[in-house]
Amino acid sequence: MTGDIELTGDTDLAAFVRGLPKAELHLHIEGTLEPEMLFELAGRNGVELPFTDEAAVRAAYSFTDLQSFLDIYYQGAAVLQTGQDFYDLMAAYLRRAHADGVRRAEMFFDPQTHTERGVGFDVFMEGFTSAMADAETATQISSGLIMCFLRHLPGEAACDTFRAAEAWLDRIIGVGLDSSEADHPPEEFAEAYAMARAAGLRPVAHAGEEGPPSYITGALDALGAERIDHGVRCEEDSALVRRLAEAQTPLTVCPLSNLALCVVDDLAGHNLKRLLDAGLKVTVNSDDPAYFGGYVADNYLAAASALGLTRAELAQCARNSLEASFAPADQKQAWLADLDAFLAPA
Ligand code: HPA
Ligand code: ZN
Repeated sequence: MTGDIELTGDTDLAAFVRGLPKAELHLHIEGTLEPEMLFELAGRNGVELPFTDEAAVRAAYSFTDLQSFLDIYYQGAAVLQTGQDFYDLMAAYLRRAHADGVRRAEMFFDPQTHTERGVGFDVFMEGFTSAMADAETATQISSGLIMCFLRHLPGEAACDTFRAAEAWLDRIIGVGLDSSEADHPPEEFAEAYAMARAAGLRPVAHAGEEGPPSYITGALDALGAERIDHGVRCEEDSALVRRLAEAQTPLTVCPLSNLALCVVDDLAGHNLKRLLDAGLKVTVNSDDPAYFGGYVADNYLAAASALGLTRAELAQCARNSLEASFAPADQKQAWLADLDAFLAPA
């Protein structure tokens, strides 16, 4: 769908964006830990923080690349210790997502970040899944969990993590690959992904954020990735761009993250619109909103303002997100009908 949409009424752009029924497909739940909750949980669990107050935390959120962010992100995750902590984190995110028009959230979690601190699957999975069930009861938001393997750790550790998740596999919809991308090609994780696919989990992978286009090709070919997280560096390989367009492989693009981690120098130089124009299935997401300055609607609005996206293009991103979700087909059809009704009120 291209061309602008005539909307009746005087809905302003922020209300329009928040009203768009959408899915968020690239969201690290540990990246939703706001400074307020960081301090609250540190106090509750007796964890000492290297920051005196919330302002000092926010001041430390000035990143030069992915690794400079990850160092702080893993430090923050250490305050998450009890089932209640994971419940509170998930509940807060799903409340915000619902307020942003999210009908479906497919959220990454990093089990190795927790298991290596002695916090086991039973602790975080109980917390996550009970908050997800309560949020669905309260607001009808649908959600699913994608278990990420940390790519700075060996492929064998990913296989061990998959085995450790065995009792919880019916509560996990997919597997992903995150953490430091440079020098950690996807092929190292082929065995863990093969086990996950054999168990019916849907494969996705971060690729082409900082890493080269060959990591996107590797994620598709060696891991069977059905969606590429970020993927913005695909543009450096025109054959790959054609492949992604032809296969309509979704890209989960995160504009404010790319800005915060210096993947782009400024948002006006972001390739999101060019990728849309090339016919790629682009979606808009927040990645780690507590660290990058905005939740999903903020990402739509920042991209709209920097790139001059039309309402039709914003609606296309929302449509792409619903189509790219791993929810059952009948649910997706219902959300897509809601989107159509929102765009063309009777
Ligand atoms: N990239 C890689 N790893 C991550 C990210 C990201 O954007 N966010 C949290 N872990
Ligand atoms: Zn990410």
